[in-house]
Amino acid sequence: MTFTVSVKDSEIAFDCGPQQNVLDAAERAGWAIPYSCRKGVCDSCVGTLVAGTFQVPGRGKVSGPAEVRLCHAHPKSDVEIAPKRVEQRTPPVRKRLTTTVHRRRQVAPGVTILDLRYPIGRRTPFRAGQFLNIILDDGDTRSYSLANPPQYNDLAQLHVRHEPGGVFSARILQQLEFHDTVEIEAPFGEFFVDDRSEAPITLLATGTGFAPMRSIILDHAARRLTRPIHLYWGARTLDDLYLLDTVETWTKRYPWLRFTPVLSRPHPGWEGATGHVQDVLIADHTDLHTHQIYACGSEAMTNSAADALARERGVNPERFHADAFVSAAGAPAAV
Ligand SMILES: Cc1cc2nc3c(=O)[nH]c(=O)nc-3n(C[C@H](O)[C@H](O)[C@H](O)COP(=O)(O)OP(=O)(O)OC[C@H]3O[C@@H](n4cnc5c(N)ncnc54)[C@H](O)[C@@H]3O)c2cc1C
Ligand code: FES
Repeated sequence: MTFTVSVKDSEIAFDCGPQQNVLDAAERAGWAIPYSCRKGVCDSCVGTLVAGTFQVPGRGKVSGPAEVRLCHAHPKSDVEIAPKRVEQRTPPVRKRLTTTVHRRRQVAPGVTILDLRYPIGRRTPFRAGQFLNIILDDGDTRSYSLANPPQYNDLAQLHVRHEPGGVFSARILQQLEFHDTVEIEAPFGEFFVDDRSEAPITLLATGTGFAPMRSIILDHAARRLTRPIHLYWGARTLDDLYLLDTVETWTKRYPWLRFTPVLSRPHPGWEGATGHVQDVLIADHTDLHTHQIYACGSEAMTNSAADALARERGVNPERFHADAFVSAAGAPAAV
């Protein structure tokens, strides 16, 4: 049995089985709805159930009107929904691959860069900014942004923050040796630069939120684009900006790139920006309404940036894109 999901105030309608979630069904039908974690944690996919009934894990049957996470919404009847955004898109081609560890290096006290090689002859096309899922032995997944540019798609470079008690980052990662295997599925994500626009691009990153920014900047360079990019990268201390030298080299090479490092716990003598990246961005600009802003890293930063930029600089939510690095283990709240 399948139900019909229709989108309010549009001609859009697609089928969805009772075991499927609306996000997956929309994607298969060629419609992209914003998402990030796909685990009911981040709220990127929250939309309105206008009419009809969903089965929602942790909430039981929910009838419209109600707010729901569309990645966790399974129809119990025909439904009408109003997502934040919906765009026509060719359904993504995802691959599940057994990769091998090429290199693992700790680059800061709490950060490891992990290079994974795909099997010979296998490539995974993706867009700069997207992420992959590591598949653990029990089938659970962990999301990591691809830090390599799409021009190098026979490998995956991951920038992994060590989470205390984390199954992957604190245990599995620390034991990985050269040539060990890691199961992955890629690509996922709606976090990539809107190529239809010529607007200046602002990248806001905290910690390992730099990973997708690396991919975006190297992709920009490889495609010889000249649209201005300004990267704000925030961390507690200078050591936490684990590829600072690399970014400074890029700023000398690429005239379209500006870089503002931001420290929240600066050492004595630091003359750069201090505080939170979103506050420094706001202080730097009286008007940001023409910018496209991409934010990646801690959920506290992405949420605070979304609110502050809309409130204080009139940034239209359509121009603000974020991947919050929520924990896979975080318990979903009540939405
Ligand atoms: C789209 C996306 C992209 C991401 N990209 C990156 C990236 O490039 N780099 C990066 O470093 N991170 C990234 N993340 C975040 C990363 O996926 C999570 O931090 C992930 O949970 C880490 O996995 P882990 O196995 O190390 O830790 P987990 O086992 O998931 O544990 C994470 C934390 O939660 C705690 N915890 C465990 N169980 C529970 C529980 N039941 N309730 C509450 N807390 C619990 C643990 O103690 C630990 O501190 C991304 C997340 C998303 C959604
Ligand atoms: S994508 Fe649905 S809550 Fe994160």
